[in-house]
Amino acid sequence: MSKQRQIGEVILNLQNISLAFGGVKALTDISFDVKEHEIRAIIGPNGAGKSSMLNVINGVYHPQQGDITFRGEKRHAMNPTRVAHQGIARTFQNIALFKGMTVLDNIMTGRNTRMKSGLLSHALWWGPARNEEIAHRKRVEEVIDFLEIQHIRKTPVGRLPYGLQKRVELARALAAEPSLLLLDEPMAGMNVEEKQDMCRFVLDVNDQFGTTIVLIEHDMGVVMDISDRVVVLDYGKKIGDGTPDEVMANPDVIKAYLGTSH
Ligand SMILES: Nc1ncnc2c1ncn2[C@@H]1O[C@H](COP(=O)(O)OP(=O)(O)OP(=O)(O)O)[C@@H](O)[C@H]1O
Ligand SMILES: [Mg+2]
Repeated sequence: MSKQRQIGEVILNLQNISLAFGGVKALTDISFDVKEHEIRAIIGPNGAGKSSMLNVINGVYHPQQGDITFRGEKRHAMNPTRVAHQGIARTFQNIALFKGMTVLDNIMTGRNTRMKSGLLSHALWWGPARNEEIAHRKRVEEVIDFLEIQHIRKTPVGRLPYGLQKRVELARALAAEPSLLLLDEPMAGMNVEEKQDMCRFVLDVNDQFGTTIVLIEHDMGVVMDISDRVVVLDYGKKIGDGTPDEVMANPDVIKAYLGTSH
């Protein structure tokens, strides 16, 4: 049985975010917040600006306008590495793993932001680096157990079916011990069983580690089932924000969805 989660204070606040690529307005004046421990979904038709929003949170894109506040601190032009050091990890819409490397080694790359010893001492396997490596391995093994992928830990990622690759990508993100996890369509392209597994893992991560999750998802059943609050984008604008029931009853949302194939 899952524990009763305590949704906390706002930890991420996006205010009046606008982002354009040349003439393309990807995001227009978008504001919403994310509270500690919640599962916050971002939905919307193709091209609505969902991935762009995640890239703004992640520090990959720099909005021309707006403010981002994370844990009370306003962000000034931050790059993805600095964002990662703040405890924000993510997965990508198109799986971003090293296909020739094993599952284990891929997940180990998730520890990079937490490695203190220099590369040279790692290469020589000396004192502090050795102890550090053992600690990193331990965390990685915990994640492997948690996501039930022991049996594939030595398999090159490129040989795995798509659903398992998605799970390995989640593992890599979790290895960083994030407090905020950004998932860009973690269930896209999966069969029903794989989706159910992924839903369970997302809920378990949220429940057992208390990780706050921002999730982009097209499957409305999944969104209704697992998210606490939903923000709806359409053509780069926010057209809805609230509980799953609230947004599904929102006429603007219904209109946007009837006009597309979703
Ligand atoms: N790097 C970029 N350069 C130019 N245009 C971009 C870039 N990234 C996104 N866009 C444009 O911004 C708009 C929003 O794209 P985005 O990928 O954020 O949508 P999305 O909601 O994630 O769509 P999908 O459901 O298809 O993944 C689109 O018009 C897209 O072409
Ligand atoms: Mg996208």
